Amino acid sequence: MIDHGNIVILTGAGISQESGLATFRDADGIWAKVRIEDVATPEAYARDPDRVHRFYNARRRPLAERDVAPNVAHLALARLEADWPGEVLIVTQNIDDLHERAGSRNLLHMHGEMLKVRCGDCGDVVEWLADLGRDDQCASCGTTGRMRPHVVWFGEMPFGMERIEMALAGCRLFISIGTSGNVYPAAGFVQMVRELERAHTLELNLEPSEGATLFAETRYGPATELVPAFVDQLFTEGLSN
Ligand code: APR
Repeated sequence: MIDHGNIVILTGAGISQESGLATFRDADGIWAKVRIEDVATPEAYARDPDRVHRFYNARRRPLAERDVAPNVAHLALARLEADWPGEVLIVTQNIDDLHERAGSRNLLHMHGEMLKVRCGDCGDVVEWLADLGRDDQCASCGTTGRMRPHVVWFGEMPFGMERIEMALAGCRLFISIGTSGNVYPAAGFVQMVRELERAHTLELNLEPSEGATLFAETRYGPATELVPAFVDQLFTEGLSN
């Protein structure tokens, strides 16, 4: 009898790297070229909104113009969600839309979404594919100059934490894919699952993450090799006990 328990999958920038999107902390990563304090904090936005808009506009364009596409790792996770009898929830730290475009539906963007913007006054969130600037107006409340990327900056609370914690408490398998384990609370999810002693924990990454020793099982290599192979194995062997 194959065990088809619930699965929670945490993804990070590494799953989108082979689609052509830069990661953050690799040698050629985003934070090697620009400082977090200058573009990814509420203080940076208050101090120099034009600079923050330029940073996110440059990251939104390739997604809005569909210059990048989901890779076979994204597609394998969408297949897992579609065909697995238990629940499969993807909790992604990524703000790209590659999981959606691969077909994933049960998906939570805990750090927000690049293709959405939010009004700093009324809180309305809308899809936004164009460049964003301080002259843009909120369609709901009419305020100008308060539209910001709908992404979680350092110092802000991630989205969906209650739902994430419920899913982690009820899962039989926790997989971490393409994340360096540097940023909390995501980096702490594996410890939460371990303490419950009812789920297997697996890291699929190019190299050991900060939290590698916390995982019961680790496999290293490119996501486009590891993820499809592991999904195939799940369908033939079920969850390992
Ligand atoms: N296949 C698998 N893993 C890969 C690949 C690949 N092709 N390429 C890179 N990786 C791994 C790297 O080894 C690294 O461990 O993906 C990880 C990416 O780590 P980061 O660049 O730190 O990205 P991430 O962990 O998603 O960052 C978390 O930090 O800056 C904030 O909000 C931002 O969501 C981001 C969060």
